[in-house]
Amino acid sequence: MKTILPLAVSALVLLSAAFATPAGAEEVQMNDTLKTIFARKSVRTYTDDPVPLDKLKLLVRAGMAAPTAVDKRPWDFIIVTNKATLKKLSDALPHAKMTEHAAAAIVVTGDLNRQFGGKEALYWTLDCSAATENILLAAESLGLGAVWTAAYPDAARIQAVRSVLSIPADNVPLCVIPVGVPGGNEQPKDKFDAKQIHINKW
Ligand SMILES: Cc1cc2nc3c(=O)[nH]c(=O)nc-3n(C[C@H](O)[C@H](O)[C@H](O)COP(=O)(O)O)c2cc1C
Repeated sequence: MKTILPLAVSALVLLSAAFATPAGAEEVQMNDTLKTIFARKSVRTYTDDPVPLDKLKLLVRAGMAAPTAVDKRPWDFIIVTNKATLKKLSDALPHAKMTEHAAAAIVVTGDLNRQFGGKEALYWTLDCSAATENILLAAESLGLGAVWTAAYPDAARIQAVRSVLSIPADNVPLCVIPVGVPGGNEQPKDKFDAKQIHINKW
């Protein structure tokens, strides 16, 4: 009995750990970064609570920590807190109606002339996407809700965002990220799929 009890306890602990972690992560020690990554979800419902400018700037700072091709950092970030401007963005973007109810939005733009590869290249989209994901993860880590809503590559949406925010011609808005205090019950999805992992060759 003395030897069986610790074994049974260990088995129970292992079993509960397996069910508490996302599939595929059982063998990995969960840490705060992984917890944030697995907890991130698109949040489209917000309370009326404001988000302090300092927190929004911290989100942008997280965005600026992202990797970029040849370290060009061809991005700019527009923090929008003005209610009328949030409404204009919401009216202009059919898939970003939640922006009207968000405390703020962060618009990520890429500068065609500052990116690696010259004006015709598309590295800015990769660089700004990396920044966007960092912002989404940082928002999750602060208990905020956010969602990537696309401007690029839709010409009409790019034009709409450009016009509302007076974005110069050689700068292209990649996305609008509404940010607020979560007001609903959106949950992260478990997207793990072992079939999509290939070891050493396809
Ligand atoms: C490139 C891109 C464009 C997206 N555009 C929109 C959008 O316009 N409106 C929206 O509500 N969600 C948009 N999303 C969010 C996706 O719908 C969302 O990430 C997806 O359904 C997975 O859900 P999750 O983020 O909760 O994991 C976009 C996401 C990406 C990466």
